Amino acid sequence: MLPERVRVVAHRGASAYAPENTFAAFDKALALGAHEAELDVHLSRDGQVVVIHDATVDRTTGGAGAVASLTLAQLKALDAGTWFSAEFAGQRIPTLDEVLERYRGRLHLHIELKPKIQAVAGRVADLVRSHGMAESVTVISFHRGLIEHLREYAPEIPAGLLVQRADEADARRAVAKGIRAFYARGASLAADSIRHLREQGLAVVAWDVQNEAEMRRLVAVGADGIILDFPDKLVEYLRLTSNKQERAATT
Ligand code: G3P
Ligand code: CA
Repeated sequence: MLPERVRVVAHRGASAYAPENTFAAFDKALALGAHEAELDVHLSRDGQVVVIHDATVDRTTGGAGAVASLTLAQLKALDAGTWFSAEFAGQRIPTLDEVLERYRGRLHLHIELKPKIQAVAGRVADLVRSHGMAESVTVISFHRGLIEHLREYAPEIPAGLLVQRADEADARRAVAKGIRAFYARGASLAADSIRHLREQGLAVVAWDVQNEAEMRRLVAVGADGIILDFPDKLVEYLRLTSNKQERAATT
């Protein structure tokens, strides 16, 4: 059975159009009709959960150095928009606390734990709990140990495992641990692998989707969700597809 609705997940926000992992990118995702966004988190030197992809600030800000070596005040002093375009000058690295506050009730957030540090899972769970947002997030990571720890620490928070490709043993272990979603590289997914995972009770979300042809293929093979930099293309494609289906049903 195919999913009724494909989840449109803006990758690091609508990162084709605005600087990744900033308010500008998440606002843009909403403006383009996405109801979900993926984001990445690290810990600052003073233990704050901050929203940034790389382990250093070098690529996406005007500063330099490891995120973990900088305090929140130092991170907040950096410009996180100009590298993308002058139009976004003044964008800041958000904290997860700020993002949860700003998008509560507006975006489902897929929060990727980047550092392999157990404390990050606990801190994220505490923040999600403090905002009462367990039903509006999914915490994901390539680090299986962190996700399994999260399942024990905060079983009410949905968790997903990021994988390069889904395999049978991974799927069995995930289900046994109460993990309900697999986030697999799009190129590794086909109709039969998705069907098999869904039969085991796993939702299947595709990532690393770089063009519209691949996006359309993943809809056709039955992905439950697609994480992509250009959510507007998927919103539009799903709208056209559903209009076509409605027309076919009435003729
Ligand atoms: O959520 C999956 C995807 O974001 C993983 O790759 O490098 O963009 O964090 P990356
Ligand atoms: Ca990510």
